Amino acid sequence: MKTFTKIAKIYFSPSSTTRKIVDEIANKFEGTQEEYDLLNVAGGNSPKEFDDDTLVIVGMPIFAGRLPKTASTKLMNFKGENIPAIAVVNYGNINIGDALIELNDILKENGFTIVGTGATVSQHSIVTDVAADRPDEKDLEKLNEFVEKCREKLDSEEFEDIEVPGNKPYCEYKKVQLTPICDESLCTYCYECVSSCPEEAIPDMDPGQTDADLCSACTACIYTCPEDARYFTGDLFERMKERFLTNFNQRKESEFYL
Ligand SMILES: Cc1cc2nc3c(=O)[nH]c(=O)nc-3n(C[C@H](O)[C@H](O)[C@H](O)COP(=O)(O)O)c2cc1C
Ligand code: SF4
Ligand code: SF4
Repeated sequence: MKTFTKIAKIYFSPSSTTRKIVDEIANKFEGTQEEYDLLNVAGGNSPKEFDDDTLVIVGMPIFAGRLPKTASTKLMNFKGENIPAIAVVNYGNINIGDALIELNDILKENGFTIVGTGATVSQHSIVTDVAADRPDEKDLEKLNEFVEKCREKLDSEEFEDIEVPGNKPYCEYKKVQLTPICDESLCTYCYECVSSCPEEAIPDMDPGQTDADLCSACTACIYTCPEDARYFTGDLFERMKERFLTNFNQRKESEFYL
């Protein structure tokens, strides 16, 4: 069986579901794990070239049918001539849009050989009643079957170009026009939200404020806050919730391509 010295995990995961998927995949392989957390303001900013004997696992959430802009920009810094990569986009049961083809294009452009790729479904990080508590047991079973097939393919060393759904040019990247509010009566000024924000949208000493122009609605600060002081509210959020629960609450399944 093909073995690797290093398993490099690259992910952007504001509400932690994408990280969970990446960990599930990585833990099925032997080798020392290295992490590249692109949510971290400093993470992924400098060029990185992987050595032979590395398997790369990449996980990205889908934002408005695309990869989050900050994440895709950083991902372009990772290069690996013929380095095998397993790459997934992770979405909240609404739509994949062009994110899967975008992820595959970036990795191929940077030299990686895609072993297996796909789109997994997880709890929607904004409207949490959609795909609530996913990935569940059934999702993880399907994911494990996929990883098993990736292992077989790595052993066979036969890698053909994988076709994935999506359009070119990609759909236009649209920022979701939501910004979390901070309930200062709950806030204990721990500043965890400030350091969690990939866009530096929360001023250093003033977590009560958020710069709406910088905020990408990624949800990291909401999931980080130990006091549940940060959340989305307002008409647009309520309308989004109603629309998603009415139109997109039927279970979609993960899909994989090898
Ligand atoms: C700004 C934003 C945009 C999103 N856009 C989509 C989308 O277009 N389609 C979809 O199905 N889910 C969408 N989602 C849901 C996330 O893709 C999903 O919850 C994913 O599991 C989040 O990953 P994370 O837990 O690693 O943050 C969006 C979430 C956010 C925060
Ligand atoms: S302020 Fe906006 S961009 Fe920053 S962590 Fe919170 S939701 Fe994400
Ligand atoms: S993480 Fe929550 S409690 Fe801590 S500063 Fe931010 S809003 Fe306040």
